[in-house]
Amino acid sequence: MNQLEKANEYVKENCVVQEELPEFHVAPLIGWMNDPNGFSVYQGKVHLFYQYHPYSAQWGPMHWGHCVTEDFVKWERLPVALAPDQAYDEAGCFSGSGMETEAGHVLVYTGVRKEECDGVQKEYQNQCIAVGNGRSYKKSEQNPVITGSMLPEGFSREHFRDPKIWREPDGYYMAVGNKTNEGIPQVVLFHSEDFSKWNYVSVLARDQSGKLGMMWECPDFFCMDEQYVLIASPQEMCADEEFHNGNNAVYFIGEYNQKKHEFNDWQVYSLDDGFDFYAPQTMLAPDGRRIMIAWMQSWDSNIRPAGQRWACMMTLPRELKLVDGKIVQSPVREIEQYYTAPVRYDGKEIAGECQLSGIRGRVLDMTVEIREGNYRTFSIRFAQNEQFYTSLTYHREKNLLELDRTYSGMVRDAVAYRRVKVKYPKEQPKFRLLLDKYSAEIFINDGGQVLSTTLYTPPEAEGISFFCDGTAVAAIQKYTISVS
Ligand code: FRU
Repeated sequence: MNQLEKANEYVKENCVVQEELPEFHVAPLIGWMNDPNGFSVYQGKVHLFYQYHPYSAQWGPMHWGHCVTEDFVKWERLPVALAPDQAYDEAGCFSGSGMETEAGHVLVYTGVRKEECDGVQKEYQNQCIAVGNGRSYKKSEQNPVITGSMLPEGFSREHFRDPKIWREPDGYYMAVGNKTNEGIPQVVLFHSEDFSKWNYVSVLARDQSGKLGMMWECPDFFCMDEQYVLIASPQEMCADEEFHNGNNAVYFIGEYNQKKHEFNDWQVYSLDDGFDFYAPQTMLAPDGRRIMIAWMQSWDSNIRPAGQRWACMMTLPRELKLVDGKIVQSPVREIEQYYTAPVRYDGKEIAGECQLSGIRGRVLDMTVEIREGNYRTFSIRFAQNEQFYTSLTYHREKNLLELDRTYSGMVRDAVAYRRVKVKYPKEQPKFRLLLDKYSAEIFINDGGQVLSTTLYTPPEAEGISFFCDGTAVAAIQKYTISVS
């Protein structure tokens, strides 16, 4: 049995039952998942691959898991697509992207190879290709198609990963995460006419500020509403007004010089202000929407209830728009097809602590809009019972949001509390809470700001309550989401 057959056999024999998994977020049937990969359309369906280690609930030699959807919400599982089974990728098939071409469904990924050199373990990261029919994939005979030796002097060959490809009138382009040997993070660009012969083009973008970490993982580059956008996941940042400590997922709005292939004069912002959001990747849907999905987890606080045999999940795919030069996100509209049991309150007065009839559950989409009121603090508590809750608190005068999962049932001392500025305050603040068993994605004021978090709370804690230190008049709309 080869590595791929072995992985598929293992998944088949060990997968958990659907009831244990999130209702509408992609999660592994067994084992560990991280970054979304190869998010692309092929023959009319949307394919999503992901970093996958089936054999334990921990990161290990990376495979590519695979699933497919017609509506971004309901996913069909397909066999594992890639396994680390060649000399050039024996230490893992790391992240990458995908694209439909005349030759089939092309995947590009980073092949990782370890080698001992003078007693020191060295890692080499090179870019590789596999082509398939939407179900099974064959690695190219020419792999690796790009090696670190094609990089200019002084660029790291050990941190050279996560290729994102796209097509332009003059051929294919590939943006790859990299850093200089001095530790300056950057994205480098390659070009090819035919996918097999690639040339180094330029440094697409490089950090000049010294504030954006030491390596940019998982780059993505696209034009939306005539504005070029670069996305990256910088490692090891220090917190400031905009970013939290550690790894962040960020976007840059800047100017692209198409002759020099350089992206400059940018402003940089965070994509999500919660605890769990990393390595986002976007795709262009056939109807022109730019859709983003991310790993809903953090490398530094990735914990789960003891005994859970699957680890980590994706966000719900989000539609991106540019409003006043900033990215605005909303859950894909297809989620509405799965709404059941609507509950609605109009002009509901909330003073002190209260629960509302019909407002409870762990798999739901709820929007709370405060129409008017006289208050300083307003909170929503969810995944609640006598022992547990997770909460979002809005401090109106201080213009702050607090996300608190201290009492969510986690038994490790992971980050549990985050306070951020409300980036785009509104007279009538709006909070949209998307809950799915073990996660919450909270869209603030129509998605100018999002806070995503995983939670570890036993599923029977399904209460929701509201708290206001004065009086708030709210409109509340809640739907249960039912996919399976
Ligand atoms: C980001 C990342 C990528 C790499 C992959 C390995 O989370 O570190 O840079 O390709 O995970 O699983």
